[in-house]
Amino acid sequence: MSTLEPPLALLAELTHRCPLQCPYCSNPLELDRASGELDTANWIRVLAEAAAIGILQVHFSGGEPTARKDLPAIVRAAAESGLYSNLITSGVLLDERSLATLVEAGLDHAQLSFQDVEPANADRIGGFKGGHRRKLEVARLIKAAGLPLTLNFVVHRQNLERLPQMIALGLDFGAQRIEIAHVQYYGWGLVNRDALLPSRVQLDAATEEVETARLRLKGRLVIDYVVPDYYAARPKACMGGWARRFINITPAGLALPCHAAQSLPGFDFPSVRTHSLADIWQSSPAFLRFRGTEWMAEPCRSCERREIDWGGCRCQAFALTGDAARTDPACALSPDHGVMEAAVAARGGEPPPFRYRRIGAVETA
Ligand code: SF4
Ligand code: FES
Repeated sequence: MSTLEPPLALLAELTHRCPLQCPYCSNPLELDRASGELDTANWIRVLAEAAAIGILQVHFSGGEPTARKDLPAIVRAAAESGLYSNLITSGVLLDERSLATLVEAGLDHAQLSFQDVEPANADRIGGFKGGHRRKLEVARLIKAAGLPLTLNFVVHRQNLERLPQMIALGLDFGAQRIEIAHVQYYGWGLVNRDALLPSRVQLDAATEEVETARLRLKGRLVIDYVVPDYYAARPKACMGGWARRFINITPAGLALPCHAAQSLPGFDFPSVRTHSLADIWQSSPAFLRFRGTEWMAEPCRSCERREIDWGGCRCQAFALTGDAARTDPACALSPDHGVMEAAVAARGGEPPPFRYRRIGAVETA
């Protein structure tokens, strides 16, 4: 393990509390309660450990990270440890004063999520009345505070037609970057797949729109674009490969190789309350389980892309096949690829109602 590179970034899920209830949330179906959250002192220690092992960036997310009253102290600890900090926020709990406190504490960047550009639809998707109007204000406040800003839009069949206006909003706010991310269909996204999965026609139009805008806005606005696996022939390198680039810490302090890893059975994820980040990264059995290529079966084992996409997403493989060690069904070479084709064939008609992200909204085994 001596040649093991440190993770690039720490994904710090400070809390699962959130005023919004997006039906594609990346949080697990079973949400951590506030009473079990890691305390301030433990987060400060974890940030120091992260910097010590060579991590460069920390992304504060949730839930909604600004729901934590100690966020300024945690941001300050990141700055004092030399970590570049990014706040991933819905923005609805921020105001001028709280933003100034975070900037003063050393926050480096803000990523503000939007559900749509059409206010009523945005509020319906997020399950939070008045949220969109609040976000528009907060985007202005972030720019006024001098923070670099990324706008994030999660796109799907119920908002994709307004992609040009989303890009225009990014320009209006002087954002450095805009992220157009199609829903990823595991966890809450899988629960709501029929309500969210776009058609091939919608997807192709969106991809063309993004490519044209990228050319037109070169040098003014960076557009990141994440496509849905369901129309792909090859999978994405989920998280840059299992336990290769990131450590995700849950609100309760469990260390995971990805945000959905708790959906996988048979794992005993280590806690940062009892294990150092260095030990977790180097020798935790959960992190070693799918790192590299040794675990792979065919068709990945002999495939020339095995060190490019690392076999795709373990959580998607488990969600769709019941076996996390199988090739991601997003791959056309996977014997399970038909499950994705069947989901695409079954979509259409009126979208069913959302099942919103909230505790107890979905039966879990
Ligand atoms: Fe990637 Fe495996 Fe498909 Fe090859 S067979 S492209 S390694 S998922
Ligand atoms: Fe867990 Fe892709 S989300 S490996």
